[in-house]
This record gives sequence, C-alpha cells and structure tokens, in this order.
Amino acid sequence: MKKTLVLAVDAQNPEMDKIRKAADFIKRGGLVAFPTETVYGLGADALNATAIRSLFEAKRRPLDNPPIVHVCDAKDVYRLAKTVPAKAELLMRRFWPGPLTLIFEHSSIVPSVTVAGLDTIAVRMPRHDVALALIKESGCPIAAPSANLAGKPSPTLARHVLEDLDGHIDAVLDAGLTHIGVESTVLDLTVDPPQVLRPGGTPFEALLKLLERVELNPVATANKILSVEKARSPGMKHKHYAPKAEVVVVEGDIEAVVDRVNELIARYKACGKKVGVLATNETFKSYSADAVKSLGSRRVLADVARNLFRLLREFDAENVDVIIAEGVSTEGLGLAIMNRLRKAAGYNIVKA
Ligand code: TXA
Ligand code: MG
Repeated sequence: MKKTLVLAVDAQNPEMDKIRKAADFIKRGGLVAFPTETVYGLGADALNATAIRSLFEAKRRPLDNPPIVHVCDAKDVYRLAKTVPAKAELLMRRFWPGPLTLIFEHSSIVPSVTVAGLDTIAVRMPRHDVALALIKESGCPIAAPSANLAGKPSPTLARHVLEDLDGHIDAVLDAGLTHIGVESTVLDLTVDPPQVLRPGGTPFEALLKLLERVELNPVATANKILSVEKARSPGMKHKHYAPKAEVVVVEGDIEAVVDRVNELIARYKACGKKVGVLATNETFKSYSADAVKSLGSRRVLADVARNLFRLLREFDAENVDVIIAEGVSTEGLGLAIMNRLRKAAGYNIVKA
C-alpha cells in the first residue's frame, strides 16, 4: 500500500504547484488519477512500459484491454499514429478537445503493453483544463483508462476513485464532479466506413453530420450479449459498469414502464430483497421502494448521463440487493446511457 495524495484543484484555473506535484509522479513512472470532461482517468506515462504494467495491476484490468492515450495537442497524434488519415484531421478539428477517441495504426514509439499487443492505438484530447495542464507538465502522452476497478461503474467524483483505488495510486487531482458523466465515443478509423465501437459523449448523430459514412458496431447498440468475434474493441467482451447489486433495465413506453417497475418492486419485495429504483423526474413519485433516486428529467439526457454512474454507486453504498432502472431514449447521449445501463445489467432487460 502507498499513501494516496489528494490534491484539490480549481477546474478552470488549476493551481500549477499541484499540477507540478502530480506531473512529477507521472514522470517517475507513477499513477495519478485526474478529471476529464467525461469521467476521472487513471494516468500513467504512455511510453513507459513499466508504468503501464502497474496501471493495469492497480485497476486489476485484464492485459488484453488497452487504455486510451491522452494528448494535450493534436500535433502529438503524428508521433503516436503511423498515418493520420484526412478524415481524422477533420474530426480532430471539429471535436477536439472533446469526448471523441480515435483509433489509428500506431507508430513504433508505442510500447506493446500500452496497446495490449494490438497494431492500433486509441487517442483523444480531453476538454478539461486540469487534464490538459497535467499532460503538458508531464511532457508525455498519458495513458488513462477510467479510474475505477475493472468492471465497476466509472468515477465521476474523486471520492469514487478513492473508493476503488485508495492506497494503490500516488495521487488524485480532485476538481469535483465531471461534466459529461459517460466516457468518450470510440471511433475506429482503421476500417472503411469508420465504425463507432463505443457510443459516448460525442453523439453518433454529430459524427454522421460531419462524415459521409459512419457505422455503429452492433455491440454498441446490443440488447443482448453478442459473440466475441463481433467485438472489435477488446473492452467489449469484458464485464462493465456493474454495481454490487443486481440490475434490471425496464424499457418501453413510459406508462408501461412505470407499471412494470411497480410490478417488479412488489415481486422483489415479496422475496425479502432491498429494492432500489433508478427513476427520472417525471416518474419519481410513482414508486415506493427502499430507495428511489432520480437521474433528472428524461428530456434532459445530459443530466441523466452526468448522474448515472454516481447513482449506481450510491445504491451500492446503501446496500440494496437489486436496482430496477428505467430506460431512456437512445437519441443523442441516450445511446451511450442505454449502452452503459444495459451492460451494468448484464443485459437483464425487461420489455414493458
Ligand atoms: O472518456 C473516456 O474515454 C475515459 C476518460 C478517462 O478519458 N477513458 C476511458 O478509458 O473510458 P477506458 O480504458 O476505460 O476505455 C477505453 C476503451 C475500451 O473499451 C477499450 O477496449 C477501447 O477503448 N480501446 C482502447 N484501445 C483500443 C484499440 N486499439 N482498438 C479498439 N478499442 C480500443
Ligand atoms: Mg473504463
């Protein structure tokens, strides 16, 4: 165990003495958790194989699932990627800094462990002043998977990072709640047409507007477990976002969903289970269970995304046995929200 340093920083004007302290750990091969606009990441020097091995270890992440490499300047992509297609340049101009990760073939400077032995690398430039300052001050690209134990919901608060990793990492930069709340969209540019491997903070519709053609990998929209051959992204086949409690997602028209959730509450209560309901502002008052929490208005998907992982963790802290979650629309950010919820539920989906 090591002592994990907690450094509170201003999200807009990060104090440089604290950034320097954190960057010193990165330069020496250490592990630093930091906020991005999506979720907190656990950072290590992407070009230091030893540091990356300890990153996998701290997260207990399988070695076949590579992290995303974060840069503070679009120019850095040219060192990490073997070639940068014209489409990538277009996407980088439009969406960086921001929640879009691009997959390239990687250059020879990238250690094999950083990319889990693949020919490709995932790169993004985050839209967060703390993240950008840390990368710049460290003087290297920073590999950063979400800063949770493998399989758990991603952290949107520094407190979540500490719940999972306290004593196993050198420091966490605490700048409060992350803005988007679900991870970046992962877009594979090594195939034609480009393919979304993970829906996220950049909506599919926004990519469609810019690119002539772009596809959604079937796993991104799946409502059941698909075979591993279809899983082009290594992360697709691993367990994800799962709280300790069992999760059920109820999907359909809102009136039918409310009825179905109430039926399920009664059924689980009858077996003596402690029941939590993940509702929305519109439906919140329709339920009586051991814990009822609202994600926000179902018409404001940005709020739902921001609250999702935090509330899943809150239910765990309250030791509920089962979480019954309402589905939302799959438009815009809704595609990422439903992807995370369905995975959290292990595809235990009830059609109302
Ligand atoms: O918003 C985010 O993307 C956050 C913040 C911290 O930036 N990071 C994040 O990283 O979610 P992580 O490691 O938890 O998820 C990375 C995803 C995984 O699904 C992984 O399989 C996929 O990106 N990935 C990484 N390298 C890849 C590659 N070369 N080809 C295909 N998928 C890749
Ligand atoms: Mg993750």
